[in-house]
Amino acid sequence: MRSLRIGLPLASLVTGAALLLTAPAAHAADTPLRDLAAAKGKLIGTAVTGSKLTGTYGDLAGGQFSSLTPGNAMKWGTVEPTRGSFNWTEADQIVAFAQAHNQKVRGHTLVWHNQNPSWLTNGSWTPAQLGSLLQNHITTEVSRYKGEIAAWDVVNEPFNDDGTYRSDLWYDNLGSGYIANALTWAHAADPDAKLYINDYNVEGVNAKSDALYNLVKSLKAQGVPIDGVGLQAHLILGQVPSTLQQNIQRFADLGVDVAITELDVRMQLPADSTKLAQQKADFNSVVAACAAVTRCVNVTVWGFTDADSWVPGTFPGYGAATPYDENYQPKPAYYGIATALGGSDSGGGTPPPTGACTAAYSVSSQWNTGFTGQVTISCSGASLSSWKANWTFGAGQRITQAWNATCTQSGTAVSCANASYNGSVPDGGSVTFGFNGSWSGSNPVPTVTLG
Ligand code: XIL
Repeated sequence: MRSLRIGLPLASLVTGAALLLTAPAAHAADTPLRDLAAAKGKLIGTAVTGSKLTGTYGDLAGGQFSSLTPGNAMKWGTVEPTRGSFNWTEADQIVAFAQAHNQKVRGHTLVWHNQNPSWLTNGSWTPAQLGSLLQNHITTEVSRYKGEIAAWDVVNEPFNDDGTYRSDLWYDNLGSGYIANALTWAHAADPDAKLYINDYNVEGVNAKSDALYNLVKSLKAQGVPIDGVGLQAHLILGQVPSTLQQNIQRFADLGVDVAITELDVRMQLPADSTKLAQQKADFNSVVAACAAVTRCVNVTVWGFTDADSWVPGTFPGYGAATPYDENYQPKPAYYGIATALGGSDSGGGTPPPTGACTAAYSVSSQWNTGFTGQVTISCSGASLSSWKANWTFGAGQRITQAWNATCTQSGTAVSCANASYNGSVPDGGSVTFGFNGSWSGSNPVPTVTLG
């Protein structure tokens, strides 16, 4: 297996000099992520596009990862675009690739509000008809891959952010019972597959993850086959929830497995070295949180290369969300993952910060032409003896008065230095200063940097 993985890039040398120049030499000496993860008893996965599984993309997908999730290939709209006429081509291809590379497959997904075929969403069905369409769909797809799928995301995104059930085709017509039914039907079709409910914005402890927690608890109490929860983890740079590990642990304590199923960390483009270092720290803390909980069994990235990521198309202005760049070179984020799994940090840029002081800006009140804002500087694992908080106003705002700091504004650039009495911010402590300002049109929150 190992000599095969090394052999493929060498073969590509004879096909063109351009490949030689872009060959990912930097990671050739690194232990593959899949081996690091295996040593911790975990799977490391990626979402993939079937048509791309050749060349460098195929080498990395097969060589670095131990679990694959079809990004789109198993969704209902893909597999049954016309009622009764099935297209399993890409799904079959991904399953075959995974088997050839000794990888697990996470099936994704059976019941969702999105990417359903138009014949289904445009049809008018009685609840009984819809229930049997769903049962047939689940039975057909799960049976086709019986014994070949390690885990299924049976139900995807059933909740709203406030913890209520999402109003969609399924809930509106079948009530919340569709979830238990879907799990039961999937279990009947493949009793060995681990069955998951998967959602986003459930990474930290919040109203939505509370709802998921209560649902899983009640499904377990009723004897419904539920084996795991998937935390998608489509994250924004610098915003890994501080309660991630605690949240993973509480699900584990309910007696289910947990997987990070769709990890990416998006940033506003263009990327720069500061953002990439933060992204490395973010990937590191997500993988470390999973590594710390025995029942967290899989971390899957939603695309391993920026050349194959849904982010730029879905979140305009954002991108660079994956561990490899568009030329398949490992980014600092790759080493954020590797180090969380006990690997080395070779070539990975600055290591994840062990401590930092950060500044948070907020508007506490706002009226027709004016507003009051504040900035809190907090230190954790670090301290300051003096500080300067700097930002650029994006919509013509002006500072008119400040307290607990001396602020100057030149054009759109604001710089606030500590007062004589509050320059020191101890480890674990924080300092806040405030200001009044004027605004018109809009009053967007700027990003504050400490200097
Ligand atoms: C995304 C795919 O990556 C895109 O290619 C597609 O256009 C839209 O769906 N949550 C999920 C995934 O569960 O299935 C979604 O995948 C991303 C959000």
